[in-house]
Amino acid sequence: MDRIINIAVDGPSGAGKSTLCKLLAKKYGLIHLDTGALYRAVGSYALSKGKDTKSVAEIEPLLSEIKIEVDYKDGKQLTFVNGEDYTERIRYPEVSMAASNVSALVPVRSFLLDIQRQIGKKQSVVLDGRDIGTVVLPDADIKIFMTVDARERAKRRTAELLEKGFEAKEEEIYKEILLRDKNDSTRATAPLKRADDAIDFINENGIEQSFERLCAVIEEKLK
Ligand code: DC
Repeated sequence: MDRIINIAVDGPSGAGKSTLCKLLAKKYGLIHLDTGALYRAVGSYALSKGKDTKSVAEIEPLLSEIKIEVDYKDGKQLTFVNGEDYTERIRYPEVSMAASNVSALVPVRSFLLDIQRQIGKKQSVVLDGRDIGTVVLPDADIKIFMTVDARERAKRRTAELLEKGFEAKEEEIYKEILLRDKNDSTRATAPLKRADDAIDFINENGIEQSFERLCAVIEEKLK
């Protein structure tokens, strides 16, 4: 692509946003920012300090002591907090809810907004998250709203955790997914919401087929 292109991909947890965005980044030479990783980094740091992740009084003071950076290695996003590699630990099961909790706090959202916007200014990017098309990149060239049935998401997430060696029960994961969906879409600030000009994309097929379909949607839009 010969001009700066910004693609915003939003949707609930486990919709497969990151997987497809990684592939998009590779195919079109974009930088992919998984913005959930930033909320996870704050959540993970807060847990390590024994803080209540729902409490603005406990979380806000932490923000002045955190520096979050991302880097890329072989197409994979690495996430650092104060120079320490958090890439693996932000995927621990307990961090999902902590990230959802801190993401409802206004100071956390404004703290992370700058990091996200800066990255989109200099190069072509694809950002995935919950409020990319509505808040972070409201002028994005392409906005995708990606969804999949919650049952299917629970199935995928369970398989992913088991593969990584964590314990995971599909029924519990399903309940957590519903709770996170509720948390993320009902919070007062920047909730998970489809932008009015977003293209709906149901990621219900295998990766290859979905990716092909997504590329077709994007190429049509860029014509
Ligand atoms: O995409 P994820 O599951 O890694 O995101 C973790 C949490 O972060 C999610 O429950 C909601 C929050 N989040 C957000 O509020 N806004 C974003 N742009 C990305 C994630």
